[in-house]
Amino acid sequence: MQRSYDSQGNRIPDWDVAFVTSNVNKYEEAEKILAEFGIKLGHWQRDLIEIQDDSLRKIAVQKAQDAYNQIEEPLIVEDDGLFIDSLSGFPGPFSSYVFKTIGNNGILKMIGDNRDAQFVSIIVFRDAHSYTSFESSVTGTISKNIQGEGWGYDPIFVPENQKKTYAELAEKNKLSHRYESLKKFANWFNNK
Ligand code: IMP
Repeated sequence: MQRSYDSQGNRIPDWDVAFVTSNVNKYEEAEKILAEFGIKLGHWQRDLIEIQDDSLRKIAVQKAQDAYNQIEEPLIVEDDGLFIDSLSGFPGPFSSYVFKTIGNNGILKMIGDNRDAQFVSIIVFRDAHSYTSFESSVTGTISKNIQGEGWGYDPIFVPENQKKTYAELAEKNKLSHRYESLKKFANWFNNK
């Protein structure tokens, strides 16, 4: 990638804001979403400290702090959680760990008769002066089987008013929890 430098030799980012995430799928979705709002999104592919806490917001703020310490430029990070009603909100803030351990098949075995769930996304923007968070959630249900080939929980999450999982929906990016939180971020960022 072509880089730009100021007169002191400091690199000028070639984007409006950077997304710090090790998850390329998340970055690719976010890049397309923010382009709709005229925001050019850069990518720093970094592993970030993910504290264990029952607040997604606290986890995301800590990630933003860690990311800022690493790259020292305006950035966003994201933390997500899948909250399943019949499991009292589990896996929620532990969604990443649960996905790595028992995965979608484990969730399908545990879930009760009530299949209602919410997918929550928190975006935290951080720069030298402040941080600001943007939260959204999409209500839906957990499918009976794995459906489709998507990443993460995409093959088991059916958003409200749809019959297909995120993995099967060509328009996931228009109706996802990520779309909603990034839209809030974009409206704020563009008026900053
Ligand atoms: P994270 O902690 O924000 O990375 O997300 C928690 C878990 O939810 C991880 O296992 C992610 O892969 C998963 N996840 C987050 N967003 C999505 C999504 O849009 N689709 C499917 N899985 C997701």
